[in-house]
Amino acid sequence: MATDVEIRPAQPTDHPILVAVMDEWWGRPISGILPRLFLDHFCTTSFVAASGDEVVGFLVGFPSPARPDEAYVHAIAVAPGRRVAGLARVLYQRFFDAALADGRPVIRAVTSPVNERSIAFHRRIGFTVSEPIADYDGPGQDRVTFRLDLRAPAC
Ligand SMILES: CC(C)(COP(=O)(O)OP(=O)(O)OC[C@H]1O[C@@H](n2cnc3c(N)ncnc32)[C@H](O)[C@@H]1OP(=O)(O)O)[C@@H](O)C(=O)NCCC(=O)NCCS
Repeated sequence: MATDVEIRPAQPTDHPILVAVMDEWWGRPISGILPRLFLDHFCTTSFVAASGDEVVGFLVGFPSPARPDEAYVHAIAVAPGRRVAGLARVLYQRFFDAALADGRPVIRAVTSPVNERSIAFHRRIGFTVSEPIADYDGPGQDRVTFRLDLRAPAC
């Protein structure tokens, strides 16, 4: 990770900043997946990577109320010019540390089958990747699921 970057907990005031960059960072209209409630209610388990005043990455996640040993990552992204330098891995490590401290060793996330970059990244950092599941999020909304058990020994 670049030495000018610091990871800090997210704040509700980060919401408009994240929404403003998401479509560009994903390369498609996507900001609708992050309504304000995620920053209002889950900022304490979400993280922002910043270089000075500039946000260069973020992870939005939360503990599962229904599954006591699980935590869920709703979105992770890094600015295009900052990629493949270990920043998303560091953001995930902060989330893993917080989840483990909260007694939640199982981490889950999902993505669209078209998001090959996300699938390659999650596989690389140790997640088990499912086959595409038809209609997972509703009609025509296929998804690939990710699962990582932090108790399992690394290969
Ligand atoms: C997916 C994403 C978050 C990865 O961020 P990143 O900072 O580039 O990832 P890192 O540098 O931490 O990579 C960690 C590992 O994954 C690998 N990796 C990252 N992107 C990869 C890709 N596109 N293809 C193959 N491997 C990849 C890296 O090489 C690295 O491996 P290493 O540690 O063995 O060297 C970033 O590409 C992104 O923001 N994409 C757009 C938003 C998105 O799709 N988010 C995910 C869905 S919510």
